[in-house]
Amino acid sequence: MKIVTAITELRAARSLLSGSVGFVPTMGFLHAGHISLVKAARAECDSVVTSIFVNPTQFGPNEDLAKYPRDLPRDLALLEAAGVDLVWTPTEEVMYPSGFQTWVQVDALTRRLEGETRPGHFRGVTTVVAKLFNAVGPDRAYFGQKDAQQAAVVRRMTRDLDFPIEIIVCPTKREADGLAMSSRNTYLNLQERQAATVLFRALSLAKLAYDSGENGAEKLRAIVSAAVASEPLAKLQYVSCADYDSLEELDTVRGKALISMAVFMGKTRLIDNFVLG
Ligand code: PAJ
Repeated sequence: MKIVTAITELRAARSLLSGSVGFVPTMGFLHAGHISLVKAARAECDSVVTSIFVNPTQFGPNEDLAKYPRDLPRDLALLEAAGVDLVWTPTEEVMYPSGFQTWVQVDALTRRLEGETRPGHFRGVTTVVAKLFNAVGPDRAYFGQKDAQQAAVVRRMTRDLDFPIEIIVCPTKREADGLAMSSRNTYLNLQERQAATVLFRALSLAKLAYDSGENGAEKLRAIVSAAVASEPLAKLQYVSCADYDSLEELDTVRGKALISMAVFMGKTRLIDNFVLG
């Protein structure tokens, strides 16, 4: 497994990879969710490239950039074991050299949900993902359903900017009790960690209702809100029942839909979602 930092090194190493290239962009502190993307890439592509970069431009001023968890030696060991060929660990200077002033922004799709509650977040994501795509030049790129809006926004950007890259979205990996794996779960204390199962429970109740014939979006949102309200440590930020592709809020669930939520567990903000239909 080769590890590079500079863009020139990355391009040189990339040019030596043979066949189809799968790419898994990450911010490190890897868990089984990240590794499931690497495994999907490993199974479907001849070569696998992963990037590790905690992207400052996607963090808001009151967010957790400085304390975002990092453990590069452990990440590299996990990637090596998963059969990655090339790891790119750019520095902030490599990605955003002084004078940097060009941004990639997806419009309507980023105005709601995560975009509404985290202004500027998706501009940072799409800018860095476009730069990573340009440098790596993969055939396929792998994203997690856990960050459903991010996947939708990246899909839109890829189409709009004509990147010749297939975007593959992989299922959310969960802990045994249903909590979606996330680097941010490490911020939870014991009580919060136990209470955090409420996200999965709330979504499961909504899905159960949907599977039993309930297709009123407001009713499904209310089921999620009520479940979260029953957990004293949890504070619901939003719940959405929206069209899977456009992320427009629905009145009635007919085709493929996304029920998604953001919850504060103490100071830690957690997101989760289920796909319906
Ligand atoms: P990060 O949070 O490190 O996540 C990297 C990838 O892993 C994303 O595609 C995310 O959706 C996926 N992922 C996270 N938790 C998952 C889980 N439990 N199951 C399946 N996949 C999971 O998302 C980012 O980094 C950044 O925004 C990035 C795309 C790298 C741009 O900076």
